Amino acid sequence: MLRRPRRNRKSEAVRNLVEETSLSVKDLIFPLFLIDGFNKKVEVNSMPGIFRFSQDQLLREIEECMKLGIRGFDVFPAYPESLKNEAATESYNPETFYLKALREIKKQFPEVCLMSDVAMDPYSSDGHDGLVKDGKILNDETLEILGRMSLAQADAGVDILGPSDMMDGRVGYIRSLLDESGFTDTSIMSYTAKYASAFYGPFRDALDSAPKFGDKKTYQMNPANSQEALIEAALDTEEGADFLMVKPALSYLDIIKLLSENSPLPIAAYNVSGEYSMIKAAARQGWLDSDRAMQEVLLSIKRSGAKIILSYFAKEFATLSK
Ligand code: PBG
Repeated sequence: MLRRPRRNRKSEAVRNLVEETSLSVKDLIFPLFLIDGFNKKVEVNSMPGIFRFSQDQLLREIEECMKLGIRGFDVFPAYPESLKNEAATESYNPETFYLKALREIKKQFPEVCLMSDVAMDPYSSDGHDGLVKDGKILNDETLEILGRMSLAQADAGVDILGPSDMMDGRVGYIRSLLDESGFTDTSIMSYTAKYASAFYGPFRDALDSAPKFGDKKTYQMNPANSQEALIEAALDTEEGADFLMVKPALSYLDIIKLLSENSPLPIAAYNVSGEYSMIKAAARQGWLDSDRAMQEVLLSIKRSGAKIILSYFAKEFATLSK
């Protein structure tokens, strides 16, 4: 035998030399859930180890994560039903607890890269990402609301806006508004290929944001399609996105690869709530090793072409790599 591939696996030192992909805390963005109030830290039932924090507790959590080397945070608010309405107007109320918390985070930790979510669902009494009329999700009318929300978040000091609703034209609409208003340095990480997925279930529990009727299939993509991701990527690029995101990650590694091979923009992947909970649930049963499964999953996402990974495992990964 002339060729013996096992020679390159014979010791850890050799394995390290030929290792193609490596993962660092610098690649990670940690999604965090915010609730109104003081001194609250409530675990999400379907996401063991993940909490909904009030602002004061969230600031402490961010400080801890920063000591572990994490610099990217994506904050999602959980609103009570009483503050939701059809037009999601609370999303751009300058006094709303989400915007106040974003402002405070940037004030206390100016060096963090703070990301926010631009979509109607946490504030919508319909639980949809768009304005609903006669059971239909309106596109262009939704853009106006996203525009107001984006300006309010940019004004609060957010570094990267994350339009996550898959409305057509939103990236260009938001980019022009930001530029006209002097927010030329505010970045956009577009949820470019966001699929209508079962894996968002635990996230919707965390935010109580499940749609009140129907599903999200008229705006989120069909899991059967990959060519469509190229159309979305081309549009987001023309419209001025700084990053393209694929979501979820694990059932869509082929899409991550496709976009990374076809776009010079940095590709991000969202390792979503259901992907986190599956591992946690199996680990609780003693059916698999959570640490090893986490590392393998994150590595596979990076290997497939994602430069950036949004993951609920970020803090655990950072703790383990210390
Ligand atoms: C909402 C939004 C969702 C997620 C991020 N932003 C849920 C949805 O589209 O229903 C999911 C994140 C996760 O599951 O971890 N626009």
